[in-house]
Amino acid sequence: MKREFIADIVPKVGQETTVAGWVHARRDMGKLIFIDLRDRTGILQVVFLPSDKELLAQASQLRPEFCVSIKGQVNTRPEKLKNPKMLTGSIELLAQKLEILNEAKTPPFEIDKDTMPVNEELRLKYRYLDLRSERMRRNVELRDAVTGSFRDWLRHRRFLEIETPILTKGTPEGSREYIVPSRIHPGKFYVLPQSPQQFKQLLMVAGMERYFQVARCFRDEDQRGDRQPEFTQLDMEMSFIDQEEEVMQLVEAMLIAAVEATAPHKKILQKPFPRLSYAEAMAKYGNDKPDLRVHKDDPDELAFCWIIDFPLFEHSDTEGRLVSAHHPFTSPKDEDRELLSVDPGKVRAKAYDVVLNGYEIGGGSIRIHKRELQNRIFEILGLSAEEIQTRFGHMLEAFEFGAPPHAGLAVGLDRLVMILANEPNIREIITFPKTGDARDPMMGAPSDLPRSQLAEANIQSLA
Ligand code: AMO
Repeated sequence: MKREFIADIVPKVGQETTVAGWVHARRDMGKLIFIDLRDRTGILQVVFLPSDKELLAQASQLRPEFCVSIKGQVNTRPEKLKNPKMLTGSIELLAQKLEILNEAKTPPFEIDKDTMPVNEELRLKYRYLDLRSERMRRNVELRDAVTGSFRDWLRHRRFLEIETPILTKGTPEGSREYIVPSRIHPGKFYVLPQSPQQFKQLLMVAGMERYFQVARCFRDEDQRGDRQPEFTQLDMEMSFIDQEEEVMQLVEAMLIAAVEATAPHKKILQKPFPRLSYAEAMAKYGNDKPDLRVHKDDPDELAFCWIIDFPLFEHSDTEGRLVSAHHPFTSPKDEDRELLSVDPGKVRAKAYDVVLNGYEIGGGSIRIHKRELQNRIFEILGLSAEEIQTRFGHMLEAFEFGAPPHAGLAVGLDRLVMILANEPNIREIITFPKTGDARDPMMGAPSDLPRSQLAEANIQSLA
């Protein structure tokens, strides 16, 4: 199908072209009909003149969201009808031929208006229509721009983009996991990754040195505005790094470059980002993700900060046991090593979080790369020798083959884009998100499965 994007025809005054898209609005002005035609790149005014009666009659059938292709001549608009606020505000298309590619039912909500006030269940059920609205399209574009900026920046610094498995074994990142039954191995299960943590460390053992991935992560946790059961990390890992500052400076430069490239109107309050110890943040702000904005009502202010010197362990709420504050692969501070055997609760970690406007948008650490220390941490976490072997034997073994010192971090892409887009929750910047109770009203997931399919997967449902 021959067509040009609306954004590309602006300089083509006097030429004939064919455009395609959706009817955004129709205005009947006496004998004339005006159509606002929308494609992904913009909105174009199309005029149907009374001289061609057949064409005019065809145009009068058009309704919002009809999918059409229109051939016509690009003309300059009469001076008083020019609209400098629109990309196409100086031109219009004089229609010569109209093809209705597909009709549309009346949409369940108005797409030419902001859909934010519409019931969210309805928006999610008809997400493909919601995504036609300008705000949602902009959010999709911004997300693409941010991801693209990260990719370019990292590739220029010898980072390799590497995919890691989705069907895998659990990574202890503190959340409940999604499990997938194995058909071929009855009674056995895969687990969806909470993050690519172990794989990225093993890629360092594999000599890849600099890795990144736009990685989908899965966590079966209670939902909040800044949490989804599946979300995306810009995940990275580097070898031959042993100081927190090395990672923090690199990530900081990458974040600043992304903001400057994709949201240049935003003002970063402090560069370099301030560094606060966990103890300082707790004492001063009562939490470890302080909102350091000075003008909280300025939508363009960005206050980044780093939180460092986290405790390595915390006490679990339920059993009073020690659990990892980040994950068990995090290295303790050298000066606190002695405390591991006497007072592990006091040991600080070589870990860092990056916080933006009161949200934790990323976190990482210098990793353990020696078998003995990793084993010691698992013991402190209360794992038996057998559990250590079955759950993490592969990591311990890998560390015995010349594992380099390494470190990394993961940025919560959804949260970062949410803040850059001034959106109140991450559902607005995920194309097909889940509801607050982890459903997809459009697909109808989660759903029942036929008994035969369950049997094949060796599942007996108790529900
Ligand atoms: P962590 O668990 O801190 O670290 O996750 C990194 C970042 O991911 C984002 N995030 C989420 N975003 C949306 N929905 C969620 N449910 C969700 N959970 C986390 C946050 C968070 O800062 N493997 C380590 C990283 C590392 O050590 O390199 C990890 O996953 O913005």
